[in-house]
Order: sequence, then C-alpha cells, then structure tokens
Amino acid sequence: MILEVDHIDTFYGETQALFEVSLNVGEGEVVSLLGANGAGKTTTIRSILGLTPAAAGQVRFDGADITHEQTHEIAQRGIGWVPDDRRVFPTLTVARNLSIGRKKTRFRPWELKDCFEIFSALEYLMPRECENLSGGEMQMVAISRALLGAPGLVLFDEPSQGLAPKVVQDVMKTISRLKAEGVSVLVVEQNARSALEVSDRVYVMDLGRIVYDGPAPELLVDDDKRISLLGV
Ligand SMILES: Nc1ncnc2c1ncn2[C@@H]1O[C@H](COP(=O)(O)OP(=O)(O)OP(=O)(O)O)[C@@H](O)[C@H]1O
Ligand SMILES: [Mg+2]
Repeated sequence: MILEVDHIDTFYGETQALFEVSLNVGEGEVVSLLGANGAGKTTTIRSILGLTPAAAGQVRFDGADITHEQTHEIAQRGIGWVPDDRRVFPTLTVARNLSIGRKKTRFRPWELKDCFEIFSALEYLMPRECENLSGGEMQMVAISRALLGAPGLVLFDEPSQGLAPKVVQDVMKTISRLKAEGVSVLVVEQNARSALEVSDRVYVMDLGRIVYDGPAPELLVDDDKRISLLGV
C-alpha cells in the first residue's frame, strides 16, 4: 500500500471531525472517497497532507509515518494535491504557476511536455494570467502543477466541481490516464457515478466515519446499495 490511513481522529478546535477513519490506496490504484456534504472527506485529505493533522491514529505514505510531518515535507515525499478551490495564483501566468509546482521526488518526474500531451490546450495557455481562465482550464493547471511535483499519489478534492459535463468526463479520463502512468489516486467526489466509473475501490463516509468500503464496479451496478449510501 502506498497510503495507509489507520484509525485517525481529527479535530477542529474542540470539534471532532474524523472518528477512527481508516483507508488505504495501493500502488497504481484509483480509490474514491464519497459521501454527503460535511461527511469529512476534505478533512481526511487535510489530515493526510498535515494541514489539519490527526490527533490520534497514523498516516503512512510509501512506508514512512507522516502523521506529524510538515505539509511541505509530505509534498516532498511525493504526495500531490489538487485542492477543491484549485488554488492557483490568479495574477500570475500559467507558466509561472506551473514552475512553482516543480519538485524532485523518488517517483517518476513529469516534464511540461508530458503535461501538454495530456492537456493539448495547456501549451497555448502558458502566457495567460490565471484569473482569466475558465474552470476547466484552471483545473488543467491545477492537475499539471500536481504532476510537475513528481507525485507517487495525487489527492483530488472534488475535481469535477463547477465543470461542464463534458469537462467532467475529461477530468475523469485524466484520472484513468494517471493510473496508466503508474500514479496512485485518491479522489473525493460528489459526482459519485463519474468517480466510480474510473475507480478500483470506494470508501463512503458519513458524519466523520467510514461507513462502507468495497470494489467500485460493484457499487456502480448495485443501485439499491448506492442509492441508500449516496442517494444517487
Ligand atoms: N475549518 C473548520 N473549522 C471547523 N469545522 C470545520 C472546518 N472545516 C470543516 N469543518 C467541519 O468538519 C466536518 C467535515 O467537513 P469536511 O469539509 O471535511 O466535509 P466534506 O465531506 O469535505 O464536505 P463537502 O462535500 O461539503 O466538501 C463538517 O462538520 C465541517 O463543518
Ligand atoms: Mg470537501
């Protein structure tokens, strides 16, 4: 397993947001983490990244205990992040935003030309300022920035949020492409069906706990189970 989250409890001040959350991602696996608003999905990502560290339990990445490491150390180990708000610097160009993401890790390095191969439009966007980009274009920048950090694992937080259905399909295709390139993926989504279509396994959260886990294709075809867990 490249990522092992083992019984973590996470708090915002006095308020407990995660209760004994355990999940794992295998090498080259795509895993989705689904659940209603406020279930604790983003908090799980924040705990993995050390942004809101777990108070109890353990997070292991690539064989190392990273539970209490600094966020920049965790990134340096090879965890990429595509945040829900995409978080590009609006007044900087695409080229500048991408150059900020460059890192060397023990995992496969990505060059700009590799990103242009995935996102053909990106090359022409390079001189543009990010504040003028569409949602789909901004998502290409956010994903490329994560890849240029040479990740072994990429955490996606609601990558389809605010995107047109066609662009959502492109993002999901990108996730499958990353898997083909050997990058492991944990994807948080509201768009359950789209995420399940590209995932190997799925976890469902509710009220800060994992309430279901299993193979993604099974949940995709089990309408009763899926509707009872996710409402869709
Ligand atoms: N900065 C914060 N301070 C206090 N409580 C927070 C904070 N961020 C999240 N929470 C609380 O933690 C719980 C889990 O929130 P989280 O953002 O992880 O949910 P989520 O599953 O990502 O939801 P969404 O689908 O709406 O993004 C919620 O009850 C939320 O109100
Ligand atoms: Mg969230």
